[in-house]
Amino acid sequence: MHVLVTGGAGFIGSHTVVSLLERGHRVTIADDFDNSSPKVLDRIEAITGIRPELAEVDLLDEAAFDAAFAAAKPDAVIHFAGLKAVGESAADPLRYYAHNLGSTFSLLRAMKRHDVSTLVFSSSATVYGDVQQPPYTEDGGRLDATNPYGMTKVMLERILRDIAGAESGWHIALLRYFNPIGAHESGLIGEDPSGIPNNLAPYILQVAVGRLPRLSVFGDDYPTADGTGERDYIHVVDLAEGHVAALEKLATTEGARAWNLGTGTPTSVLQMIAAFEEASGRPIPYSVGPRRAGDLPQSWADTGRAEAELGWKATRDIADMARDGWRWQEQNPRGFSD
Ligand code: WQD
Repeated sequence: MHVLVTGGAGFIGSHTVVSLLERGHRVTIADDFDNSSPKVLDRIEAITGIRPELAEVDLLDEAAFDAAFAAAKPDAVIHFAGLKAVGESAADPLRYYAHNLGSTFSLLRAMKRHDVSTLVFSSSATVYGDVQQPPYTEDGGRLDATNPYGMTKVMLERILRDIAGAESGWHIALLRYFNPIGAHESGLIGEDPSGIPNNLAPYILQVAVGRLPRLSVFGDDYPTADGTGERDYIHVVDLAEGHVAALEKLATTEGARAWNLGTGTPTSVLQMIAAFEEASGRPIPYSVGPRRAGDLPQSWADTGRAEAELGWKATRDIADMARDGWRWQEQNPRGFSD
């Protein structure tokens, strides 16, 4: 089928585009390159032999986006586009609510105008907040994020459920990602955060490649095996394959339904440092600092629903993630600006 991928030049978007093309789907990327590089299309073509079509457009420019949508005439949409930095969202909530909600409304109105009703939505494990204890289950209790970014995901999940409840014919997957890391095995695409990375894996990789001097470990006094925070890291290619599985499931599923995309295995900060030292053959200097406000001690997925209903399970382990992430960083020390 023809899939419109918003934010398709981004980290998870580009890996999902590769998986879609490899499965024989046709892809149009809708991206304004505000937080990504046009070089990604060259890299996707180098990996797959196919250059995805492009609509260079801002979803918030509703008239321009509608025209691009009408021209593409997609059969389905995967919606990645949005702001996603937790700390930034706490500093500027209005920007985050206006952008993430407004861009999704623009998309939904275009889908309705052009009779497209299949949508895979990029949600996040952040929606679990600290309501239930891990492993998190999709129906384990109310959703309640601890930051504005996460609240945009809680709100958009509710909005999509309400739309699917009010109007028949919608096929909507709400995919709750845990912690995506790693890169395609080619080393041609990967995570390229702008500025100093907020997240652990890209920060560690920039220390390993010499762009940053040392890592600050945000607390080692958590109630965990080694005192550092534990997360469910998932290889970005496993995550991409989960999107394709969800898209194909929607052909026989009506309404809106959430699925966790994680491995079900928690890994600590110190274990991550060791994995990346092993993969890169380089020391990762670090010092232990205070806890980061809002951090949870532990987070990991119950993976049963995705396995049972999507026929999907992550297959790559932390060593795979570290090895592939390092290859991308070593080959692209300054990301796509090299
Ligand atoms: C992981 C662990 C930190 C950086 C965030 C968002 C979430 C999702 C994924 C979008 C924690 C520790 C980190 C550092 C550290 N993004 N850490 N030093 O916070 O689990 O999730 O990214 O959907 O919404 O909240 O990921 O990589 O920031 O942190 O010690 O310099 O690494 O305390 O234990 P997090 P993270």
